[in-house]
Amino acid sequence: MNISVIGSGYVGLITGACFAEFGLNVTCVDKDEKKVRLMKKGVISFYEPGLEELLQRNIRAGRIHFTTSIGEAVDSSLVVFIAVGTPPRGDGSAEMKYVEDVSKEIARHIKSYKVIVTKSTVPVGTGERVRRIISENLREEVDFDVVSNPEFLREGAGIEDFMRPNRVVIGASSNQAIAIMKDLYRPLYLIETPIVITDVKTAELIKYASNAFLATKISFINEIANLCERVGADVQTVAKAMGLDRRIGPKFLHAGPGYGGSCFPKDTLALLQIGKQHNVGLRVIEATVKANEFQKEKAAAGIIKTLGNLSDRTICILGLSFKPNTNDLRDAPSLFIIRRLLKAGAKVRAYDPVAMKDAKKDLPAVTYCRDAYEAAKGAHAVVIVTEWNQFRNLDFNRIRKVAKGDFFFDLRNIYEPAKLAGMGFKYYSIGRPPVQ
Ligand code: UDX
Repeated sequence: MNISVIGSGYVGLITGACFAEFGLNVTCVDKDEKKVRLMKKGVISFYEPGLEELLQRNIRAGRIHFTTSIGEAVDSSLVVFIAVGTPPRGDGSAEMKYVEDVSKEIARHIKSYKVIVTKSTVPVGTGERVRRIISENLREEVDFDVVSNPEFLREGAGIEDFMRPNRVVIGASSNQAIAIMKDLYRPLYLIETPIVITDVKTAELIKYASNAFLATKISFINEIANLCERVGADVQTVAKAMGLDRRIGPKFLHAGPGYGGSCFPKDTLALLQIGKQHNVGLRVIEATVKANEFQKEKAAAGIIKTLGNLSDRTICILGLSFKPNTNDLRDAPSLFIIRRLLKAGAKVRAYDPVAMKDAKKDLPAVTYCRDAYEAAKGAHAVVIVTEWNQFRNLDFNRIRKVAKGDFFFDLRNIYEPAKLAGMGFKYYSIGRPPVQ
């Protein structure tokens, strides 16, 4: 089967490359000519483990092609995925301009039956809107279906999530479209992936509800962590014991400096806007968003308060990306914290395995270093913001030797408080009692 994916960003490219790996013939479209030129050589502009190799393998096998022309892609495909961005507008609602523009352009090239699939995270009702736009812009009378097939890809683990998903959601109203979509995902039947078939609106809402719920779990445990700090309890153990209750589950109960990334902050705000438009209060999600803002603020304030006057202080930041295994800095807690520290007068030295190039554009005042030890040189405090694996086994003797001070803020709770205190650090983590 021939399919195409319009928009070759993170979601579009993983979708295209993974379907090619399933043996389909895939055309990936992007309006950025330079990006298309690079992708033809198997080169991508962001960091995602395994994606370049996957891409190159499928380019060699002739199963994946790249173009800037939507017309060419629509012509050659039975199924057309829309995977363009839906960035937040000023009020938090999703910007639908790109989805709409692409829908118009697709319509102009439809000459035979097509299944148009929205993969981008789109407000409830978008499927209907896309259907209307396409109907209004068709050049000839042809049949088509609109399907919602939301993605649940975690950055840094996107290929694994595509190849071994917890579920596939297909929202459609036509049996023909459902059969075609099932056929696309046939390789996943072999591993018994649950496939949820529903209507378009329900599928659209599943995506927002899932992300908002995960964000809520994080904000919930972060608030419990804050309480643990006050009463002298240990949030790690609270989370572990909570997670053993199968109704709760152990995932997404790691306290930290607040969630970031391209999805949770954007999707929670967009869902609040959807609630507002339909006059439905979403108070739990409102609280989730508020708690997350507070958590970032609290992380920065805790460092500032502990160190006192920051005007002659140097702080070493380890980890910049919003989570490990990605160079994505969108809504990263690190950016928020660093801005606060700089504003309070501190000098900041930072190291991240892959996100420094991008961070330089946002935060030119930071000194970017070769590794964790160079970043710790002359620092009064070391702060772990992102839990990259290489920070899990730091050589503390080396850090003590190069650093000026002995403050250590572990915002991801990756170390044992007693161990670090035993090595002479003034160790602070999230929601765990300090070692006396
Ligand atoms: C998320 C969803 O997991 C994915 O299904 C969706 O399609 C897109 O959004 P992603 O943004 O890549 O994926 O990151 P994820 O691993 O979910 O983490 C999001 C944020 O939450 C990160 O900032 C992470 O550090 C934070 N987090 C996660 C916590 O603070 N605690 C946790 O227990 C889990």
